[in-house]
Formats: sequence, structure tokens, C-alpha cells
Amino acid sequence: MSLQDPASRQTWSASSYDTHARFVSDLASAVVEWLAPRAGEDVLDLGCGDGVLTAQLADLGCKVTGVDASEDFVAAARKRGLDVHLMDGHELTFSGEFDAVFSNAALHWMTRPHLVIDGVKRALKPGGRFVAEFGGHGNVAAIVTALRASAKLNGTDPALAGPWFFPSAEVYQEMLEAHGFEVRRIGLYPRPTPLKTGMGAWLKVFRKAYFEQYGDDMERVLAEVVELLEPVLCDAKGNWTADYVRLRVDAVKA
Ligand code: BEZ
Repeated sequence: MSLQDPASRQTWSASSYDTHARFVSDLASAVVEWLAPRAGEDVLDLGCGDGVLTAQLADLGCKVTGVDASEDFVAAARKRGLDVHLMDGHELTFSGEFDAVFSNAALHWMTRPHLVIDGVKRALKPGGRFVAEFGGHGNVAAIVTALRASAKLNGTDPALAGPWFFPSAEVYQEMLEAHGFEVRRIGLYPRPTPLKTGMGAWLKVFRKAYFEQYGDDMERVLAEVVELLEPVLCDAKGNWTADYVRLRVDAVKA
């Protein structure tokens, strides 16, 4: 059974992700810096995707285990020779095994954060750290607004338009503390993100379930959302920039 909320359920194609979303791992240097990985450490990469960052941690000498809920991503990560399990982040099965749990650009897909934090805490050794980056409050706000407007125009469920968990720093810190973590650093970081392959491609990769509900009408609705966004996220030369805001956190299991 998967505890993922139906609205946030997402399927991934590793090859289309490689073409249209490689920036996700390319822009992760700050969270890796916060992790400060040390050779020999046991690290869990939660929502490891296609394993590009997991492999970087392994190259630094960490003993890394990856988990992801997408079969396609798990297969792609295993092709890199990584130890990766198919697992829903709401249902982590590890117990006291890791010096650190690391996560990049995955936690916003997990809409029951208390279950995730519980599992992270269980997975860590005492004193282990939880270092993560994901979408924070206000993340892709223009995109979410355009998707919700599109749902309204087309008479569909707005929950499918923007299903993500984008907490403020205060809210997430309180959640972590309620689970017995000590938060060492936490903050929101605006990160305007160039979309080299355009907004249509981004929408098709990251909000697939919303557009699929329209069947044969999908391309029309997609064009409508792109048109709504053009005045705010596309410059005069046709370059698109997404309005990302990252929440980055470094906490320890007390
Ligand atoms: C993000 O990485 O912030 C993100 C990814 C997919 C949808 C929305 C946001």
C-alpha cells in the first residue's frame, strides 16, 4: 500500500527527467555542503531519483543507500551500481542504521510529513543528522496559481493542480522539534531557476497527473497554462525562469 496522497501521486520517466530536469541535481551543491559528507558514513538518500547525487555521495566515500517510490528512477539508479530500494518515503523501514538522512527535491511530494519525519528519526542513529532541501512556502507560486486558474476555467479539481507540501521554515521547524529533532539551521532561499527546455516541458514532467486528466484536450490546456505564465516567467528573448523557493534544513536527532 502506498500512503501517497492521490493528488500528489506522480510517475516519472528517467529519460525525460534527464532531458528536462537535470538542473534539480545540478543545483544541489548548497544542500550537499550542509550535509558535509564524510568518508565511511552510512547515509540514506531519501527520494534519490535517478541516483546522480547518490553517486556523488558514494564517490566521496559514503556508504549510501537510496530509496525512491518510482520504479523507473530505482532502475536508473541501480544502473549506476547503487544500492537502491523501491520504497515510499512515508513508510521507511530502517531502524537506527544511518549517520545521516539526506534528501534533495523530494520531500514536497510527500504530503504526510509527520510520517516521513517519524521514519527519518527511526532510520537515524542517535545524534544522526537530517539534512534536506525541498520546496518551501511560496515555491513555484506563479505556476501553482496558473494551474489553479486553469482548473477553475476547465471545471476540474484544484487539488490536482498544486498538491505539494511547501512549508514555511517556522512550520517545518516546529514539526521537527515535535518529533525530538534539534534544528541547527533552517531557512527559505529564493532560487529563480532557468528552464532551458521551456515551461511546457516543465509542466509535462512535474505536473503530469494534472494534464493527463484532460485526455485528448491535454495540449490545449497545457497551452492555456503556458500562456497565463508567459507575462511573468518568460523574458523578451523567450527564456523561461521558474520561481523556485527552497527550504533547506539541518537537524539532529537529539
Ligand atoms: C521543486 O523541486 O521545488 C518542485 C518540483 C516539482 C514540482 C514543484 C516543485
